[in-house]
Amino acid sequence: MSVRRLAAPELQPKGFSFTPDNLAWAQRQIAKYPPGRQQSAVIPLLWRAQEQAGGWLPQAAIEYVAALLGMANIRVLEVATFYTMFLLAPVGRKAHVQVCGTTPCMLRGAGAIIDVCRARIHAQPFDRSADGDFSWEEVECLGACVNAPMVLIGRDTYEDLTAQSFARVLDGFASGHPPAPGPQIARQYSAPAGGPTTLTDASLYAPSGGDAATVADIVERPAAAPGRADAPSIVAAAQPTGEDVQRMAAVDAEALARTEEADIAAKIALLPKSATPEQKADAVGARPQALVAARAGAADDLKRIRGVGPVNESKLNALGVYHFDQIAGWGRAEIRWVETYLAFPGRIDREGWVGQSKLLAAGPAERTSRPAGRDEAAPGAGAPQKKA
Ligand code: FES
Repeated sequence: MSVRRLAAPELQPKGFSFTPDNLAWAQRQIAKYPPGRQQSAVIPLLWRAQEQAGGWLPQAAIEYVAALLGMANIRVLEVATFYTMFLLAPVGRKAHVQVCGTTPCMLRGAGAIIDVCRARIHAQPFDRSADGDFSWEEVECLGACVNAPMVLIGRDTYEDLTAQSFARVLDGFASGHPPAPGPQIARQYSAPAGGPTTLTDASLYAPSGGDAATVADIVERPAAAPGRADAPSIVAAAQPTGEDVQRMAAVDAEALARTEEADIAAKIALLPKSATPEQKADAVGARPQALVAARAGAADDLKRIRGVGPVNESKLNALGVYHFDQIAGWGRAEIRWVETYLAFPGRIDREGWVGQSKLLAAGPAERTSRPAGRDEAAPGAGAPQKKA
């Protein structure tokens, strides 16, 4: 691990103070601790300061937090220089990549990830790429060893990487549409690569009302890690059944929806209270491509998508969305934008609008009936829906 020092004086801003919103948030954190223990809030306050300062911690921010908590500057500096989550010099505008270089990750290919950093970002850690968008460093174990090799970017980890899949992660950040964090192979979090081997009773994951699994269309993961030599043998050793895939997709979709809801709420909390629905949506995603009018003057009946009624159909039409293939082409950024704009976070994932739209857009040859939403894909409700 590299020596951790404050950035050179010429890079340091003159001063730092929290915005009114961040100050109010900081005071709420401090109030969680009993009198005399306020310094326990030092890590969340430094993290918020780092976010406000553009992804790194200037000396002025460290001293500001020390003053806010009544701590000696050196005590806060000790914290900031100890944890690699705190960055002490300006980093890439779009992403600072922290590559785990500890033994399990190194044995599983971290060297190839570092080679990509050197080739795509800069030959030296902490130096920014020519366009200033990216920077990287090697850090010690980040606690995701079972998914080695992995990197941390901001708050998210990208796991089970190969040089190729890591390059795709960088491409995503470069285009403003980063991929979903977590394993970059067909693995559910840190479960065995072939699927869970315990707690496999599907009823464990069904809410009491009987509303249970959804289809694999909702969460799309690559089928295997391209270029990773051991992936095929691991998958072949414990091939998941169709029911396994259905159950894993349900759990993944719910987890994805919850993660997105929390992330969207956090981003919206940073906006002024007067922010419009459009400003909120712009802060968390990308507006879908709109049509001026339905093609050939004939809009698809979007109400055929389970979860879309007349009200949502007219709202979608007002956004220039008239056809199944438009919704079928939405990625994470578009889904986040629409569900934030329409004020129903998580619902598009839970109801599987994109997967349903793919089937509907594919035409009758690709489907035998109305596509299932989450409710129709409950255990015992029939075979999982086929991907378009
Ligand atoms: S060794 Fe890389 S996350 Fe633990």
